[in-house]
Amino acid sequence: MRPDAEKAAGFVAEMVATRLRSEPRAVLGLATGRTMEPVYARLVAMHRAGLSFAGCWTFNLDEYVGLSADDPRSYRATMDRLLFGPVDAVRVRTAVPDGMAADPELEAARYEAAIAAAGGIGLQVLGIGETGHIGFNEPPSPLGSRTRVVTLTAQTRAQNAPMFGGDPGAVPLRAITMGVGTILEAREIVLLATGEAKSQVLVRALEGKVTPDVSASALQGHGRCVVVADAAAARLVLGGDTEKLGSTTL
Ligand code: GLP
Repeated sequence: MRPDAEKAAGFVAEMVATRLRSEPRAVLGLATGRTMEPVYARLVAMHRAGLSFAGCWTFNLDEYVGLSADDPRSYRATMDRLLFGPVDAVRVRTAVPDGMAADPELEAARYEAAIAAAGGIGLQVLGIGETGHIGFNEPPSPLGSRTRVVTLTAQTRAQNAPMFGGDPGAVPLRAITMGVGTILEAREIVLLATGEAKSQVLVRALEGKVTPDVSASALQGHGRCVVVADAAAARLVLGGDTEKLGSTTL
């Protein structure tokens, strides 16, 4: 646990930077969402101080079906703006599912194959949705699921509405997402959760039963997964025992 969102994000950025320094050609799995914005801001600052992304490969978790790369609300455009543009990433090595593919299911299969062809993901960064989703693996998502097209829940569309002028109806109905099984194949995972709104779902994910209804619960079975939370998000974890939370790697 870290006391606030800035420090929690800084910890995750440091994990990514450490990986890039020791393995410049690392394959990173990246996430979108407001939680990630301070992580990318920190990485951009580190880049200005010398950290290079020129050798790495990146795969983003997901994309809305029907949004193009030049739509500012697409995850491709978001990643270009927050990270890829400001750093020295090589564009052809930054992958985001194509939301405009004529056949989204085929695009999902292509994306899954591209991850495998890159040798799999070394370090995967994750956020968590209020439905307990990782990527866009809405309940119920089979724990062995692969990259595919999913239908977003009303709760997720409401959560993401601020990026769509506050109108949940304007949030696309479908997305392409890495599957739970795809995500679990990453060799190392770090999940970042910040803010009170994540406290209920975080405790369900970490202490509840492993279930397709909370896709983040599948992380309990991953041997190298670190959960980084600020005090607000960690409030209910381990019964709120801040002594234990301070030093616990979950
Ligand atoms: C979206 C993304 C998830 C992300 C979640 C959390 O739904 N598909 O990968 O974890 O948002 O969003 P936020 O960080 O804005 O709470």
